[in-house]
Amino acid sequence: MTFKNTPKIELHTHLEGCAPPSFIKGLAAEKNLDLSKIFTPEGGYAFRDFDHFLQVYEAACTTLQSPEDFRRLTLAVLEETAAHGVVYMETFVSPDFCGGGDLVAWREYLAAMQDAANQAETQFGITLKGIVTGIRHFGPEACKPAAKCAVETFGDFITGYGMAGGEMVGRPGDYAYSFDMAREAGMPLTCHAGEWGGPDMVADTIRDLRVARIGHGISAVQDPALMEQIAEQGIVLEVCPGSNVVLNAVEGWADHPIVKLRDRGVKVTVSTDDPPFFHTTMTAEYDMLHKTFGWNEDDFKTINETALAAAFCDDDTRARVA
Ligand code: ADE
Ligand code: ZN
Repeated sequence: MTFKNTPKIELHTHLEGCAPPSFIKGLAAEKNLDLSKIFTPEGGYAFRDFDHFLQVYEAACTTLQSPEDFRRLTLAVLEETAAHGVVYMETFVSPDFCGGGDLVAWREYLAAMQDAANQAETQFGITLKGIVTGIRHFGPEACKPAAKCAVETFGDFITGYGMAGGEMVGRPGDYAYSFDMAREAGMPLTCHAGEWGGPDMVADTIRDLRVARIGHGISAVQDPALMEQIAEQGIVLEVCPGSNVVLNAVEGWADHPIVKLRDRGVKVTVSTDDPPFFHTTMTAEYDMLHKTFGWNEDDFKTINETALAAAFCDDDTRARVA
């Protein structure tokens, strides 16, 4: 049984994290960069744990040096993602990896991504929107230029603001300035929380950053009152089960809390996070949810309705991809 052809809405991916190892190797060769340390002998990405994953991720990003590199990456990623039935995808993009927070450079990188997105829409039938992302372990000060880039480019392609990176660095409130700036510009918000932090991290993220969605959020399962609050407020979780399994945020597929969260009325969606790093695809995620929990077309229909309603795009786009 495979759900490869089921139409899918994916809310949580990181653009650089979607780069296949072969793509990064090709860029490294073009630029004479020795990145052999970040690959396994079999050709995958080599990392031991989450902190090491972030280091390997950032090493891979050093090969992405120009708008043209991002144009090629975006097109390759969208072709692969569309092959798994994804018709609408949101991706985290970081000014830190696209010109270092400089607004003029950022606009050039964005134009290249948008150019690729337009081409992919025609060629592969997939729509892409970008969520500008601060990198938490770079610190609250570094997130401010990212938020400024977000606010200045909020529009057709850039539809939201968020934060990824090392979750245990600081507290959510330390990053309130950036989230306030984005919210005041009318941007919808999401933030990684509860992937590594406990339910207190999820609760503080909701209270201090006032987000509409949470990246992961799986530790909320440890706190029934918090699950009730999340359900009541209609906050949507961007759940990435395969990522959680490979990074050991959960013990295995059978232990994943997505069913418990859903049964408590929490709105859950399904995404891949960084598919080549975690040896996953949207097809693999759906197939494993079927195999592990017996989820079927009806369950996936609900998941996709939830995801589309929570997407940060405008209603015209929503209607077009539905
Ligand atoms: N950046 C890329 N993938 C991430 C993840 N799973 N958690 C936090 N930051 C990330
Ligand atoms: Zn993520």
